[in-house]
Amino acid sequence: MIKIAPSILSADFAKLADEISSVESADYLHFDVMDGVFVPNISFGFPVLESVRRVTDMVLDVHLMIDDPLRFTARFAAAGADIITIHVEAEISENIHKAIAEIHKSGKKAGLSVSPKTSAAALIPYIDSLDHVLVMTVEPGYGGQEFIGDMLPKITEVRKAIGERGLACDLEVDGGINNETGKLCIAAGANVLVAGSTIFHASNRVAQIAQLRG
Ligand code: DX5
Ligand code: ZN
Repeated sequence: MIKIAPSILSADFAKLADEISSVESADYLHFDVMDGVFVPNISFGFPVLESVRRVTDMVLDVHLMIDDPLRFTARFAAAGADIITIHVEAEISENIHKAIAEIHKSGKKAGLSVSPKTSAAALIPYIDSLDHVLVMTVEPGYGGQEFIGDMLPKITEVRKAIGERGLACDLEVDGGINNETGKLCIAAGANVLVAGSTIFHASNRVAQIAQLRG
């Protein structure tokens, strides 16, 4: 089954509770954390996550676009994340293993993400211990960018790696997802679609979520 993850980066933060309830027909709520170092933008962090946790039962899918994420995985778990995804480019290998173990110790699902310039091979040393893989289909940092079509073979490659190992691991795509690019990603092997602008700028968000799900 295809899962849809609205990214609240495109929501109106002055009325966040209403914005979240408008997308509750989706599966995950995607929460983009940016530190101004790993990416050239700053978004939101712990206090916002704690507030969001209080107003929804949706699965909170936290995407950490921050340097040295091992420093903060336990705090994101305590603040209410259900899935915590770090970037393979953001830590040395030893700390990626440690972060995955720490996330699991907190009882949460562990994800690993690759930016567009990083190959699928970078995920392989960790794949057996992951619940979630995130293939970025834009450069991380901003909503509303154009989908990078060259990422489609990478999605297929990751799906193959998951299938060969018989893993029950989500394969999520993030960036520039609309009705057309969403279909391409599903055909390439993705089962979770993140969408910010496509959902939050739609006149009927519930219908838009259903359409992305296909
Ligand atoms: C980008 C973020 C995305 C962003 C996607 O760095 O990781 O989650 O919100 O936004 P759209 O769907 O508008 O490309
Ligand atoms: Zn994201």
